[in-house]
Amino acid sequence: MPETIILGSDHAGFDLKEKVKKALDRLGVPHEDVGSQSTEPVDYPDYAHRVAEAVGTGRHTRGIVVCGTGIGVSMAANRHAGVRAAVAYDLETARLSREHNDANVLALGGRSLDHALAERNLEVWLKTPFAGGRHARRVEKIELPKTQPR
Ligand code: RB5
Repeated sequence: MPETIILGSDHAGFDLKEKVKKALDRLGVPHEDVGSQSTEPVDYPDYAHRVAEAVGTGRHTRGIVVCGTGIGVSMAANRHAGVRAAVAYDLETARLSREHNDANVLALGGRSLDHALAERNLEVWLKTPFAGGRHARRVEKIELPKTQPR
């Protein structure tokens, strides 16, 4: 289990985010919620960036981002160095995103995914360790070298 989780959503992911928080409580995983706090329309990158910033800088072990599809929030989160956000849409992609890709951010679709399935994906993603070995070399190659200041 990760030590701590930071999570955020837009309006389309709000209901699922609230369910994810309850699941994290049940599993005993400490978490921080960066919003949004209602179904009032907001812009998903604002919340994805808050989550990804905290994971990329090591303030939280892992993050969860939720929008309508999981796609927009994953795109924004993946702009941050050290962040590997994965859209998990079934149990296998949830497991493989951890075993093969060491995903440290889980992206869920509050409108595109059945919420009971999303909770099962969450639990698999939380409990599955990174397999390492050959996958470690590949994951290292994801990160781009830092650009040198002029
Ligand atoms: C909001 O309508 C929707 O576009 C957003 O939640 C997300 O699905 C974007 O990727």
